[in-house]
Amino acid sequence: MTVVLKLGGSVVTEKDSPETVDDDQLADLAAAVGEANVSDLVVVHGGGSFGHPHAAEHGVSTSEGTTDSAAVRDIAAAMERLNDAVVGALAGAGVPAVPVHPFSTGHRTADGDLALPTDHVAAMLEEGFVPVLHGDVLTHTGEGATIVSGDELVTHVAVGLGAKRLGLCSTVPGVLDEDGEVVGEIGSYDDVAAALGGSDATDVTGGMAAKVRSLLDAESPAFVFGPADLRAFLAGEDAGTRIEG
Ligand code: IPE
Repeated sequence: MTVVLKLGGSVVTEKDSPETVDDDQLADLAAAVGEANVSDLVVVHGGGSFGHPHAAEHGVSTSEGTTDSAAVRDIAAAMERLNDAVVGALAGAGVPAVPVHPFSTGHRTADGDLALPTDHVAAMLEEGFVPVLHGDVLTHTGEGATIVSGDELVTHVAVGLGAKRLGLCSTVPGVLDEDGEVVGEIGSYDDVAAALGGSDATDVTGGMAAKVRSLLDAESPAFVFGPADLRAFLAGEDAGTRIEG
């Protein structure tokens, strides 16, 4: 049963200090992954204080591209440094983690779709490895290179592999309603439109609206939870907010 887990950039890094790993939190999360010993696990992590500052400095986003190869090298190298830290922490907790750098494995087409094969990820799982992907800079036909978020990769990989469960571990304990309470279950965007903004709202809510929209398309149950619930999620229990479209 394939499980795809995203570790948000803000849980594995200190978001306000450039290129700083949150070593203690990362070690805790890695220990939880090691103890759970899930067969067929794919990990994806975000950019936090590694990817985002470099992307902003070069004016690159998911829609704004660059043709400056130095900018691409800069963002890709920062994400490789963070990936090294995440893979290293997982390995230290006994997880057979291996790195996967999206920039080197695929691209985004002119119409914005990901052309990122997942058969090599499936082959890694077959061999008992835990592939660790990350949000990255990605060649984008007609735009140079743009950013692919870890959230987008989670859905893409989950659909490609027919994953049974998806989890997004971020700093919040789930999707919050207008009163700041965790919403137990979301079956359509309407369930949370009031709290997250209407369907046309731009994503100013820390990315939660975009996360919910993409997870509703994921074809398998997805959970949004905080670090304290990672063990429950990996044990196959419901954690935080359950999202299933
Ligand atoms: C961003 O990935 C990757 C880069 C900026 C290169 P995410 O958007 O998934 O990162 P977090 O989880 O929000 O930090």
